[in-house]
Amino acid sequence: MSGFDTHSGVTPGEEDDPRELPVFAQEENLNAEQHSRPGPVVPGEEHYLVHAEDLVAGYFPGVNILEGCSLTAKEGELVGIIGPNGAGKSTLLKAMFGLVRVHSGTVTLRGRNITNMRADVLVHEGVAFVPQTNNVFPSLTIEENLQVGCYQNPKLFGPQFERVSTLFPALGERRKQRAGSLSGGERQMVAMGRALMMDPSVLLLDEPSAGLSPALQDEVFVNVKGINAAGVTVIIVEQNASRCLQIVDRGYVLDQGRNAYSGTGKDLANDPKVIELYLGTLAKA
Ligand SMILES: Nc1ncnc2c1ncn2[C@@H]1O[C@H](COP(=O)(O)OP(=O)(O)OP(=O)(O)O)[C@@H](O)[C@H]1O
Ligand SMILES: [Mg+2]
Repeated sequence: MSGFDTHSGVTPGEEDDPRELPVFAQEENLNAEQHSRPGPVVPGEEHYLVHAEDLVAGYFPGVNILEGCSLTAKEGELVGIIGPNGAGKSTLLKAMFGLVRVHSGTVTLRGRNITNMRADVLVHEGVAFVPQTNNVFPSLTIEENLQVGCYQNPKLFGPQFERVSTLFPALGERRKQRAGSLSGGERQMVAMGRALMMDPSVLLLDEPSAGLSPALQDEVFVNVKGINAAGVTVIIVEQNASRCLQIVDRGYVLDQGRNAYSGTGKDLANDPKVIELYLGTLAKA
């Protein structure tokens, strides 16, 4: 502890000159260089709702987790991402949502460059994200969690609450219950409901079925299908790879930060290589 100023939390001599900050801290200061507006439409890109191309990204300088990942989603599609633990699936979603620095490659939304854009701006542009963990505010009620979801445009609360309650009737019925007192499956509903409150065009979902019983997992997949059927494009990362491939239009297998296989859900589920290399091991995981 010697030399450390416990009052300011800053090591003496480092507080005034940002150039003196360690490289590590500069990397973490994502906001400083993030764009606050999408770029103009890139010709040829307008066919995709979302297009991530050749993403190289990571948490620290010189340590890339994504080593050139690509993914597309067209309007209305349900797209799945599967792969072993540590493959970079969550990192890919976070890179598309401005939470992990993209070092090279691009992400476009409706053909406009959104690479490294701030997450709050992306929400405003119609992108929603449900993280893998800690995705509800446990001390807030269901209703308050949903209010947080549309804090950028509180007028949306009324119509969107009705829409979300139609998709998940339990949320409407139990709106005054604290999220912390809900089961894992119910919390996932709140997390998805919260993400839908801004009426997004695309929903990025990270492992919504993780940690749930088989019956509740089934319910989650039905809910995801329902959200997609209601007109929201969904990009879902899933640990239940076989079940995921049953519901998606197209899927990507990620391995060590790279695309390993891609195709329709059906083709991937029946591909002997995918079964041998990924579905077997993932099923056991
Ligand atoms: N916040 C972080 N800081 C540093 N490294 C991280 C961070 N989050 C993830 N990583 C590293 O990035 C790599 C990919 O992790 P990621 O969470 O993207 O994998 P995943 O495919 O989502 O795995 P899982 O199936 O276990 O959720 C791992 O080596 C992990 O240790
Ligand atoms: Mg993950």
